[in-house]
Amino acid sequence: MTVRTPMTLASIEADAGLKAALALDAPGVVAEVKDSGLKGRGGAGFPTGLKWELAAAAPSSDGKRYVICNADEGEPGTFKDRLILSEWPDLLFEGMTIAGYAIGAQEGIVYLRHEYAYMIEALEGRLERRRKAGLLGDGILGKKDVSFDIHIHLGSGAYVCGEETALIESLEGKRGEPRNRPPFPVVSGLFGKPTTVNNVETFAWIAAILGKGAKWFSAIGTERSKGPKLLSISGDVERPGVYEFPFGVTIAELLKATGGEKAKAVIVGGASGHCLPPSDFSRAIAFEDVATGGAVIVIGPNRDLLDVVENIMEFFVDESCGQCIPCRIGNVKILEGIKALKKGECSSEQLLDLTGLGDTMQVSSKCGLGQSSPNVFLSMVRNFGHEILDRAPASA
Ligand SMILES: Cc1cc2nc3c(=O)[nH]c(=O)nc-3n(C[C@H](O)[C@H](O)[C@H](O)COP(=O)(O)O)c2cc1C
Ligand code: SF4
Repeated sequence: MTVRTPMTLASIEADAGLKAALALDAPGVVAEVKDSGLKGRGGAGFPTGLKWELAAAAPSSDGKRYVICNADEGEPGTFKDRLILSEWPDLLFEGMTIAGYAIGAQEGIVYLRHEYAYMIEALEGRLERRRKAGLLGDGILGKKDVSFDIHIHLGSGAYVCGEETALIESLEGKRGEPRNRPPFPVVSGLFGKPTTVNNVETFAWIAAILGKGAKWFSAIGTERSKGPKLLSISGDVERPGVYEFPFGVTIAELLKATGGEKAKAVIVGGASGHCLPPSDFSRAIAFEDVATGGAVIVIGPNRDLLDVVENIMEFFVDESCGQCIPCRIGNVKILEGIKALKKGECSSEQLLDLTGLGDTMQVSSKCGLGQSSPNVFLSMVRNFGHEILDRAPASA
């Protein structure tokens, strides 16, 4: 895998974060994470410290709580967690151990993307080494009252299992279908117990934050998006790969670094992201501007945008779990509309109906999959009217 720009995670001192965490009490660790301003790196950007505070405070009849690492990494165009899993898995395990201490959990589970099965042996080896070094198991770092262990669960190969409640259902041995929320996993997660689900990158930054301090982390980035961010940059660029930038980097800066200056569009956020035109390339990657879990797909000048969005909608038709109608039917209808547009058989009135359907899916689908699957299509129609509308005659 190509790795570009210096990676902060490569320079983090091993287990300094865990040692620093265990020198604090559990609420002290949560406070440090809150002070850092860290927001989840899986896409939604929920504040990690607050999530942990809620999981620690939620009642549990037998005291059980769980820490889950979401390593499902199924978003098309995202491959930055694979870098952490293959290069710095100890940072991830260290971050999970810190989370266990902070919320009072003794068990951690890595839900590993099915296609990453080839990594299991190496990851198991690292876990065993950590047990032998007293970094996992009972009495971590000689502290009698601190116990935590981690096991790896191979994912089921469905994109929807990256959605945290579907992931939990899958871990419980059921079909990976999203749950109704509330209750949220922090209150009732795995087997009904308080559970924090965090992204691989989130846990890696936790180890760095505890090791180097909340102030170090919060000095990087923007007012509302703190710290560095790993981005998987692919598509029509000369130098695809995983890059690290501080939040606030502009899309134009990403294109320059990757050799993608000729782009006619950039999809930020992967298949469920937004398709932005050159007039938006001065915008920043940040939760308050253009948010992303890490996927940046660059579209070169010679590509047909309808080919791109057709490919994306085929993905969603395959991956919809079918539980709710807006997503189950809506994705199929948008895909049919795109195919008709390509043949010049979709009128502008029908196109208007399709965008209305997309708007409805965003507000009425049960989970994030259906809420975000029309995003690329809708943003293309909005931002590339000339290219899309020209293909839709006034009446078919
Ligand atoms: C369809 C769908 C797929 C998702 N896939 C992933 C994934 O592969 N990895 C991930 O960390 N989060 C994924 N998420 C987001 C998770 O539901 C959840 O917000 C995240 O794991 C929380 O971690 P964080 O707070 O550290 O970001 C997905 C969400 C949806 C709706
Ligand atoms: S939005 Fe789609 S993936 Fe989510 S529950 Fe409904 S059918 Fe399933």
